[in-house]
Amino acid sequence: KRVAILISGGGSNMVSLVDSMLNDADHPGSPCLVLSNNADAGGLSKAAERGVATAVVDHRPFGKDRAAFEAELVQPILEAGADVVCLAGFMRVLTAGFVRQFEGRMLNIHPSLLPKYKGLHTHARALEAGDLRHGCSVHEVTPLLDDGPILGQAEVPVHPGDTPDDLAARVLVQEHRLYPAVLERYLRGERAVLHLS
Ligand code: GRF
Repeated sequence: KRVAILISGGGSNMVSLVDSMLNDADHPGSPCLVLSNNADAGGLSKAAERGVATAVVDHRPFGKDRAAFEAELVQPILEAGADVVCLAGFMRVLTAGFVRQFEGRMLNIHPSLLPKYKGLHTHARALEAGDLRHGCSVHEVTPLLDDGPILGQAEVPVHPGDTPDDLAARVLVQEHRLYPAVLERYLRGERAVLHLS
């Protein structure tokens, strides 16, 4: 299965996904594209180093016209013949129209134990709430933000005195475990929710 990965920044989740596929000859997936809305995304060079095709579609020239941006964004994905799309630190909200083209074959990783803390600033919100457990979730992407069926979750403890950055760093380690594990199972047609702790 050909996997396209969308990023906006450093791409550490993308690296984990790409390396999990490149390092396992029996893996059902192969990375066919790393696509960013940000020409300065550090992940682009990491993908190129790994021999993965890259593309950039900058969202800024399109202003508020999300549909026009997405009409461009979809092109490299189609040209790469992607079977599955993984959002990995991709920081643009996608319209229902875009999502519908990939419904049932688009995944996202979100840094909270969904359905808690959809949206942004998840670590600060978990600390604010006094949660003792936090973590990350991989879910199928549906038109509603951070709302689709959950495919996997990984938990971390919250420690007294944690800052949002402390928590983000602890969660990110688990993201790098969870996303590759969920993607491989997903590509093999497995849908049992994966829990890592
Ligand atoms: C991180 O905050 C991660 O929790 C979220 O996206 C951000 C960047 O991740 N999924 P990455 O290093 O670009 O994969």
